[in-house]
Amino acid sequence: MLVALPMLRERPGPTSGVTVERASARLVRISLTDRCDMACVYCRPAEREAYLPADERLSVAQWEAVLRGLLAEGVRRVRITGGEPLLHRDVVEVVRRVAALGVDDLALTTNASRLAALAGPLRAAGLRRVTVSIDALDPARFAAITRGGELAAVLAGVEAALSVGFDEVKTNTVVLRGVNDHELPALVRWAWARGVTPRLIELMGVGEGGKIWRESLVSRAEMVARLGGLVVAGEGARDDDRGPARYLFAADGSGRRVGFITGSTDTYCAGCDRLRVTSEGTVRPCLATTDGVELTEAAKAGEPGAVAATLREAWAQKPDASWQGCTEVTARAVSMIATGG
Ligand code: 5AD
Repeated sequence: MLVALPMLRERPGPTSGVTVERASARLVRISLTDRCDMACVYCRPAEREAYLPADERLSVAQWEAVLRGLLAEGVRRVRITGGEPLLHRDVVEVVRRVAALGVDDLALTTNASRLAALAGPLRAAGLRRVTVSIDALDPARFAAITRGGELAAVLAGVEAALSVGFDEVKTNTVVLRGVNDHELPALVRWAWARGVTPRLIELMGVGEGGKIWRESLVSRAEMVARLGGLVVAGEGARDDDRGPARYLFAADGSGRRVGFITGSTDTYCAGCDRLRVTSEGTVRPCLATTDGVELTEAAKAGEPGAVAATLREAWAQKPDASWQGCTEVTARAVSMIATGG
């Protein structure tokens, strides 16, 4: 089934004025490192990029200080991303410290290359939920999409995550036309058989994704069609306080669900309650722009007023309700690597 592709919006949208329904940030995504051991075609260029110098990245103590300040300002949920966060030497310690601060939710998104070894320590440190990126169940296709990723390690990581008993294990699959779109029923069945919640993601024209967006985007409507009788079709519903995914239920009445993230055909900026903090300490109001406010040394040292000031300045840059996220032309200039998907 073919549907009309959304138009790329060629004018940069407004970048000031907070919409009324959001008073302040509730969720923060922290990008622990810009490094990754995969290079997914929609995310990272093939050639080796210069990584940030190690001394420009926040230390564990600085992360703790910044997060303490963010929680004091009303943030209740934390998700750790990258690059690949499990490449960060101190990821378990960061989890332990954030958990000790007392948050409503603590989750992590990973490519799972190292999850088999780290699932136990992460769970013990207080991580509640984990999301694994997995774009194919065929090893050769997986290696092609990730430019060298090993599917077996990822599958072992998922099994380890299930065995240590996280509150929830989800998967993310970015759907690419002619590449992995025919695998969707298999991916969903595979996840459901393990008690994992699969999420199918529309390709966003961010960074590298912008280069293949027109030819590779598969819309949510097409994904649902691809799933055939597996799900009860419909609009789907969002989970409260759980990001933009909308879920459809399995047709078999089992109560299992599949989530759809529609960053290209149906953007969800109104009501967005997120901020992002990059590994070098920039607070970013939106995935789809390069806007942001650098944390000062005082903020990184944990001075409460300094963190609050940075956060409020970044929040004030949040686009208004007319903003259409990753369909805005500003998204092309964004690197997913330092931002965290
Ligand atoms: N479009 C959609 N999703 C993306 N991700 C990274 N780049 C893109 C893109 N261009 C998502 C992947 C991964 C998460 C960390 O970021 O789904 O699971």
